[in-house]
Amino acid sequence: MVVSFIAYIAGASAFPIASENLLPWSAWFLISVIVNIILWSNVVKLLTFSLAIIWFYAFVAGLVPESSTAVNLTELDWSDPDAVAEQGALVFNGKGQCAACHTVDTSAPPGRCPDLTDIGVNAATRVPGMDAKAYLIESMYQPANFLVPGYGKIMPEVWKAPINLSKLEIEAVIAYLQSQGGEIDPTPFDEPIDRADVGTTAEALPPLLTGDPELGKKVFVDAACISCHAVTGIESPAVGETNEDFEVVTAPDLSEIAAFNDMRYLEESILLPAAQIVSGYGAVTVRAKGTTYQGTLVSQDTEKIVVRTKAADGTEEEHTILLTEIDDEPIEELTNLQARGYFTLTLTPTDADASVTGEIVSETDETVTLKVGDENRTFSKTDVKSQMTVITFDGDEIVGDYVSGTMDDDEIVLIVDGTEEIFDTFDLEEATMTRARGKKLLVTSPMPENFPLILTVTDMTNLLSFLSTLTGATAEAVTEETGETPTE
Ligand code: HEC
Ligand code: HEC
Repeated sequence: MVVSFIAYIAGASAFPIASENLLPWSAWFLISVIVNIILWSNVVKLLTFSLAIIWFYAFVAGLVPESSTAVNLTELDWSDPDAVAEQGALVFNGKGQCAACHTVDTSAPPGRCPDLTDIGVNAATRVPGMDAKAYLIESMYQPANFLVPGYGKIMPEVWKAPINLSKLEIEAVIAYLQSQGGEIDPTPFDEPIDRADVGTTAEALPPLLTGDPELGKKVFVDAACISCHAVTGIESPAVGETNEDFEVVTAPDLSEIAAFNDMRYLEESILLPAAQIVSGYGAVTVRAKGTTYQGTLVSQDTEKIVVRTKAADGTEEEHTILLTEIDDEPIEELTNLQARGYFTLTLTPTDADASVTGEIVSETDETVTLKVGDENRTFSKTDVKSQMTVITFDGDEIVGDYVSGTMDDDEIVLIVDGTEEIFDTFDLEEATMTRARGKKLLVTSPMPENFPLILTVTDMTNLLSFLSTLTGATAEAVTEETGETPTE
């Protein structure tokens, strides 16, 4: 008996209970059990029982996949793309911190980051001429190069500190993204960046906040931020309690706002709420087929938008509007069209007769690039013919290329659909000279813009110090109590 007891201790110390030792340890254990059953003694039976429990725990722990933070990719086996995608899923949910921002669940509430359920297919449709893999590579290395419509410049460059994904981890995560509705493309690629040039240490942190978080919390309540924004641990005003200064609206929960946002973003959110509007919360006004919709922009993609309107009696309704149904509006100047929310444009180049309509891909001071059908066409802004929009008496809009005449003359001559037509200015209700027409989607922030005027510099410093404490630590403590895994 003593011998077998010593054998247990020796066995246990030779193979400490850890998942990689599970097999030798279990083998050793089984042999010992058999030996003990032969030797038979109550004390040994008890001991066997206790060790059986330890073995059971070790076995179960060995079955549970290792914590994702422990993943250390050294090579990828591309002969089994699905296995690579599984490794990518671990990076996605662990070290990559992707799951802190992105959902892969279409029923999740709207957030500041796109849902990636069908990214495997959608990736091929985002940037004209760019295939799915190239788009995903760019999304990882230079996320700001192309912003998904409706989202701000929030995504970090995940290959940089503090996330520091290696090329292998990025390859795996791209395989995982492609497996979401699409096909995994195992073609190797070169990193589009030179890590040596960038350095891998974290960027300098903003100067330490000198404010007092407790006073900031008071500002948060007194300035009525709490009327719209929930924060774990602070009581929100009772439902229906109105604030005389502004209309209370649905706004993002700020309990974890500092976990993935820097101070600059928080400061900008208060000083310039419209600079980056959280997706799913923007206020929008859009005209489609003569009806004006005013409400919240729920979602937006390259084909349609969803707008939620609220009737006077409080009932809410969601309207899905195809971009093609949105009414054209004249555009006076071709400057910064995207920032103003224009997404398609109709213009007539000087050397052409017919007008061209396309989605705005990019714009410089001199040129504008439109996606026309499948190709990108760049037009010089000075090489665009005058076009005139005439609104006649019975409400019909006539669009034509300008030939001659102004509202001060008797007649205005336009080429409409290739034929010259003469309009009597007397019959015209209103005439706007415009060189191009487009579809506009003006999104604004429902958050009041006057906080910079209301808050003193000290208030602002204290408020930011308070917001910087909202990292979800409280939320985590709560979820831990209920036994759920915190989402971080
Ligand atoms: C701090 C939040 C944040 C984190 C962390 C983050 N992203 Fe993003 N991501 C965004 C936002 C916001 C966008 C939309 C704006 C843009 O296109 O950059 C985006 C866009 C994307 C897109 C393009 C989506 C589309 O519909 O075209 C992909 C793909 C993507 N992220 C993948 C990832 C992966 C993989 C990780 C982890 C390695 C990650 N993101 C980490 C915020 C984040
Ligand atoms: C009338 C309601 C309202 C009030 C009052 C209000 N906000 Fe907001 N806030 C919003 C809405 C709606 C958004 C989302 C749209 C946007 O991004 O502008 C938002 C966005 C934000 C964001 C960005 C959130 C994110 O997830 O990225 C921060 C930070 C913020 N508000 C802080 C504040 C602070 C601090 C105050 C008080 C000084 C305040 N807000 C007062 C409605 C409000």
